Amino acid sequence: MKKPFILVLSFIGFSAVGLAQSTEKMSTENWTSSPGIIGTLIFIIIIAVIALLIISARVKSLLKSIKAKKYNNQDLGLGEELKGLSADERKKLLEKREKALAFKLSGDELGGKVKPNDDKGLVNKFAEDPDNPVVDEKKKSPISFETPDKLKKVILYYIGAATFWLLFGTLIGQYLGMKFVWPDMDHISWLSFGRLRPVHTNTVFWGWASMAMIGLAYFVIARTSNTRIYSYKIAWRAFYLINASVILGNICLMSGINNGGGEYREYIWPVMLLFAVALIITCWNFVKTVATRKISEIYISNWYIIASLLFTIVLATIGYLPFSGLGETVTQGYYMHQGVGMWFMTFTLGLTYYYLPSSLNKPIYSYSLGVLAFWTQLLFYTMIGTHHFVFSPLPWWLQTIAIVFSVGMFIPVFAGTTNFIMTMRGSWSHISKSYVLPFFLVGVVYYCLGSSQGSMQAFRFTNYVWHFTDFNVAHSHMTMYGIICFMLWAAIYAIVPKLTGREPKQIFVGAHFWMAFIGLFAYIMSMMIGGTLKGISWMEGHPFIESVLLMKHFWVWRAVGGSLMLTSHFVFAYNFYVMTRKKESTLEILG
Ligand code: HEM
Ligand code: HEM
Repeated sequence: MKKPFILVLSFIGFSAVGLAQSTEKMSTENWTSSPGIIGTLIFIIIIAVIALLIISARVKSLLKSIKAKKYNNQDLGLGEELKGLSADERKKLLEKREKALAFKLSGDELGGKVKPNDDKGLVNKFAEDPDNPVVDEKKKSPISFETPDKLKKVILYYIGAATFWLLFGTLIGQYLGMKFVWPDMDHISWLSFGRLRPVHTNTVFWGWASMAMIGLAYFVIARTSNTRIYSYKIAWRAFYLINASVILGNICLMSGINNGGGEYREYIWPVMLLFAVALIITCWNFVKTVATRKISEIYISNWYIIASLLFTIVLATIGYLPFSGLGETVTQGYYMHQGVGMWFMTFTLGLTYYYLPSSLNKPIYSYSLGVLAFWTQLLFYTMIGTHHFVFSPLPWWLQTIAIVFSVGMFIPVFAGTTNFIMTMRGSWSHISKSYVLPFFLVGVVYYCLGSSQGSMQAFRFTNYVWHFTDFNVAHSHMTMYGIICFMLWAAIYAIVPKLTGREPKQIFVGAHFWMAFIGLFAYIMSMMIGGTLKGISWMEGHPFIESVLLMKHFWVWRAVGGSLMLTSHFVFAYNFYVMTRKKESTLEILG
């Protein structure tokens, strides 16, 4: 077992060094045979196959329901059949049917009446609450934890605020997308592209994804520790602090007050301080809760969640220290990639390790694979920031390390993907029963594809082609949207109905799923193809304006995809409203 593992590691290491160190002059000759391009084409085919699989599962279930309907209609034709029978035959038939309708199972058909006795000692696990496989698998004492109303309220308010920021942030994204098609839409400084772009990214980062993640984590932390949250007061303080930082940060950005060029740290430091304080107190709240857990193990989700909080607190501090020159560039790469990798990705993986198995009602496939993915994620992800600045004046060796470690990311990504897919194995029928699994499936597939695509983007040739193009925008949406958003939606649809007792209509969840999925596909495909053609055009020395004209149609497709994504968010907001709409019990919860 060890040998192949070492072989794979050395192969990845050596091939990456080979790829990373190629210094030949870049040219577009035979560009289609470059590993990054081939890999990306393979990814596109995989996405198409997955879409076909999901569509065929849905069509199969549709055909099944049509067949069942037909069968029922035939059944209703009994009246017609009766008309053609004699009085005697009719009586016999009706008696038979009455007997059939009156038949009841006694309840012991499968077990018999004999008292169960485990003579051979084969039963070694007895679960009292089969709904909670993750906790049951780990716990030493029976579950004594009911979700308290205070906790429900915290979770619902966090997700509610996140939903609001999703709508606001993506409305801005949509407006930005339209500006590519109609650049002269407005001449108001507050609505200029340069000001609105960071409003979009910071709102979806800190307002939507972060709020939703923390809200969902409150349930996981309490549930897997089989105890109560240490302090609800802290949860509410963090809630107000995060919302205040997003509101103030956006007002500042739109009025032209910002922190300079550093991406994702455009909010000025006093505003970001509010967010940082919220993270620190949330981390304290989670750690104290886990510390008072009523079971001996710390479930894997809590490792991921607490690690990502600790990393992000360090990150926010480093990101706002006053470095200058090249030090500032290294810090930017570090901040940017830890932001997406150690905050959003690590945290969301933690959530998935709980919500995926619990919604499939089975334990996670392998706890050890989860631990391997955790430590390799920490090892590789923290060293790859400089891949954002390949061919910059930063030391060549530092860039090479970032590229090699980017390839090393295949290990946690494949370990995580395998774990999730193997957990889903045998439960594919859930695809046609509920939308939770399709949301998770898309998230997991994009986790594998988007992260592997990132590794390929780090190679010198592909980075040379794609770095300054829209290809990056495709990657950031494939990951932030394809992975993070889809996994968060899956977790929300899995937990909110359980908290409120209200289900959204499946047709609307389906509309959300398909519009987001197809919209994202149109968005990333247009940006990937357009970005590649743009990069090639630059490499071949064509005038810049040619690349702008060439992008025209791709930007229209981005706007079309974006419109579908935005519409899907309104449907999601409606579904959230339906799930939390006040009825007697929810009314009490929301006080
Ligand atoms: C194996 C994992 C990953 C690797 C190796 C990777 C690699 C890369 C590379 C090479 C770039 C382009 C740098 C450039 O040319 O400027 C990039 C950009 C980006 N990546 Fe990833 N990526 C990975 C996973 C992720 C994940 C999971 C997310 C989000 C959750 C993400 C979000 C982003 C974003 C937002 C950008 C754009 C940054 C910018 O604004 O310039 N990536 N990534
Ligand atoms: C309706 C849905 C959305 C639309 C129409 C949209 C549109 C846009 C546009 C037009 C940009 C500017 C691209 C450029 O500079 O060329 C952008 C950037 C970005 N958006 Fe979105 N977006 C949407 C949803 C989201 C969501 C939900 C997230 C994350 C949770 C997100 C994350 C980002 C990031 C990270 C960037 C920076 C990209 C980079 O430079 O690589 N977007 N988006």
